[in-house]
Amino acid sequence: MASAAKSRWADTEEDAAFEAKRRKEKEEKKRLKAAERVRKEAAAKEEAAKKAAAEAAAAAEAQARADEEGDNNDDRPPKRRKLTPERGNTDGSKEGEKTTSTEGNILRLGGGALPEPCQSVERYDKLNDIEEGAYGWVARARDRRTGEVVALKRLKLDATDRSGVPVTGLREIQLLKDCSHRNVVELREVVVGDRRPVDNILLVLEFVEHDLKSILEDMPQPFLASEVKTLLRQLAAGVAYLHSHWILHRDLKTSNLLLNNRGQLKIADFGMARYYSDDDSTNGGGGAHLTPLVVTLWYRAPELLLGARRYGRAVDMWSVGCIFGELLTREPLLQGKNEADELARIFDLCGVPTDTTWPGFRRLPNARALRLPPSSSSQPTLTTAASIRARFPLLTSAGCQLLSSLLSLDPEKRPTADEMLDHEYFRQDPRAKQEALFPTFPSKAGQERRRKRNTPNAPQRGAAVADLGSVDFAGIFGGREKEERGAGFSLRMV
Ligand SMILES: Nc1ncnc2c1ncn2[C@@H]1O[C@H](COP(=O)(O)OP(=O)(O)O)[C@@H](O)[C@H]1O
Ligand SMILES: [Mg+2]
Repeated sequence: MASAAKSRWADTEEDAAFEAKRRKEKEEKKRLKAAERVRKEAAAKEEAAKKAAAEAAAAAEAQARADEEGDNNDDRPPKRRKLTPERGNTDGSKEGEKTTSTEGNILRLGGGALPEPCQSVERYDKLNDIEEGAYGWVARARDRRTGEVVALKRLKLDATDRSGVPVTGLREIQLLKDCSHRNVVELREVVVGDRRPVDNILLVLEFVEHDLKSILEDMPQPFLASEVKTLLRQLAAGVAYLHSHWILHRDLKTSNLLLNNRGQLKIADFGMARYYSDDDSTNGGGGAHLTPLVVTLWYRAPELLLGARRYGRAVDMWSVGCIFGELLTREPLLQGKNEADELARIFDLCGVPTDTTWPGFRRLPNARALRLPPSSSSQPTLTTAASIRARFPLLTSAGCQLLSSLLSLDPEKRPTADEMLDHEYFRQDPRAKQEALFPTFPSKAGQERRRKRNTPNAPQRGAAVADLGSVDFAGIFGGREKEERGAGFSLRMV
């Protein structure tokens, strides 16, 4: 040992002993200093994690209040809620609630507190990016402790306001934490990065090899009828689970449906989701006013496009119908360029609404701007079922019946997810393919960086609700008078 070596300054044994002792003390001091540095670093990290968790807890409180009030209660675009906690109540606890100073910093969410303060992202080694968009970032990573591969998803922040955790991100954590179903992606834990932690909250999700959008884009042949059934049955089972737990997803689309190499489908991306009550969907009910600015345009139900502020499970079932159509053809079913165009495409496929096919639709905010043919019009309208049959000639009649019921203009007429699971379509041949026999695909997410997609996203929270009034629809069905359907519609300026 170095300390045992005789110093060249030591003349005597005594000097040597003294010198050795001095060196030992010096080394001990150094060791203690290093230990203190490590301790301080760890404490700083823990503090940062607690701070992020505290912000999240305070925001969860704000969300609970917001949820009681509804998404927004008037027609103005909602103000972004600042979710950074007030000084003096940094633990986010309710007044009068008994907390110790550290306990109060733990993320406190509807389904119970997280078991411990957030861990650091340093527990994971990044393997590759999966998706990198303007705000979102998802990567594949390996857990250093277990070697397990996971997906890390960074919570989105509002690009213009980076002062707090957005309510949508908190809902995403809260709802995913409350869910446990084989057809819903599993949230393992929430971790914080070492930069400014509030910018860097990451969800650790089970890694799933594919999303359906990527598979549909790349597959040379469409899915077989039996494969479509397997996927739809799992989608319906996942949605039935969410709805039975009072969760509306509000952004079902193929890029939010993951598929693993064992043929299992998992619903993901709860950034638009929220809890709801039955009252929220009935006009007479005392429920909250919800924002109609949800669901990516191509999957958005007509009642949302018409500005409904009370809606329910049927908005997800409309999206399920759109996904059904997309699974059959590999192309999104209703690719509107804007809200008015989306509505035009819906009416083109499903016919224009009448007081019989959709009682009460005229009371919806944007319906006042619709100029529809008089109900006494002698022009025959093609029923949704007939136009679905024309568009999907290879689909069985039970399949057509299910798809056209999912695409009922009147939300009341759409089947629930449970009713869908009971539908004859799933009992008829060809039966759903066993998941284990499902074809496998090369996993882009597992190997390479994704290209950025050019498909629309869910609407931005706080954006203005579309005003359909300034668009002239008169020409949309121009020159199509001879078609069997014949029923044009237009919007008048408001
Ligand atoms: N758990 C996961 N495993 C593998 N890939 C995932 C996972 N979660 C998301 N992805 C991929 O990242 C994409 C974006 O994730 P998503 O949760 O939909 O976030 P965003 O809110 O940005 O749309 C998905 O379309 C999918 O391709
Ligand atoms: Mg998504």
